[in-house]
Amino acid sequence: MIVLKTISAVKEEIKKQKAAGKSVGFVPTMGALHQGHLSLIEASNQACDFTVSSIFVNPTQFNQKEDFDKYPRTLQDDLQQLEKVGCHLVFTPDFDEMYPEKDEREFDFGSIAEVMEGAHRPGHFNGVAQIVSKLFDVVEPHKAFFGQKDFQQYVIIKALVRQMNYDIDIVACPIVREASGLAMSSRNQRLNQEQLEQASQISKVLFWAKENYRNYSVEGLKAEVVAKLKNSEGLDLEYFEISEAEGLKPVENWDNNASIVACVAVFCGKVRLIDNIVLNL
Ligand code: PAJ
Repeated sequence: MIVLKTISAVKEEIKKQKAAGKSVGFVPTMGALHQGHLSLIEASNQACDFTVSSIFVNPTQFNQKEDFDKYPRTLQDDLQQLEKVGCHLVFTPDFDEMYPEKDEREFDFGSIAEVMEGAHRPGHFNGVAQIVSKLFDVVEPHKAFFGQKDFQQYVIIKALVRQMNYDIDIVACPIVREASGLAMSSRNQRLNQEQLEQASQISKVLFWAKENYRNYSVEGLKAEVVAKLKNSEGLDLEYFEISEAEGLKPVENWDNNASIVACVAVFCGKVRLIDNIVLNL
């Protein structure tokens, strides 16, 4: 596995691989890797000849300094895991490599960036679009792999690709969960044993919603889920939304053939966790 820190070295290596006829898959990450990230590498290896991953904790997408400062950084362990799973190249740039000057770009994604994470984390998706567009420009992959764990991010990245006319196929990969149901997340490392148990309530409530949604109106289901989460010890609900998966518009009833996704954000202590489930699959 090749590990490179500069844009020029990555570009050169990828040029070589493409000249040899290899298709390139890309998995951007912020490190502190777990099986959720590794499943994306595996998906890329299945679909492409040469898998590139990046590890970069991108400051422009954090709207809380403490969240950025406390974000787990485990580079040596990450590299070992990537090597084991068969990643071919890892890009681990420094801040100055990615932001030699301040990125002043303002993306406009309209309503898909104004709801849920967009409403509660101002500037977050602009920062994601800044870094992902820079990384796409460096790697120029044929395909890029994103987890459905960050469902809204996946929708934003598809819009970014349309806006920028990137010739990149965006592939969504299923959420990988702990045995308890808790969606794997780098931020789970900041939870103690008791909090890990409390946090597993989040997915339990989502699974319940998927089983039972037909017995309720949309508003009724929402009220029921909100009540369950509010009654869960140690959890502090930020939002619960039921939306069309495609354009993230709120749904009013179930007579809808399109996919419907239920998304939640919850604080467990000081750690903010998100999860979601497609109800009608
Ligand atoms: P990060 O949170 O490290 O996630 C990297 C990728 O792993 C994302 O596509 C995310 O959806 C996916 N992922 C995380 N947990 C997962 C799980 N439990 N199951 C499946 N996939 C999972 O998302 C980011 O980094 C950043 O915003 C980034 C796109 C790298 C831009 O900085």
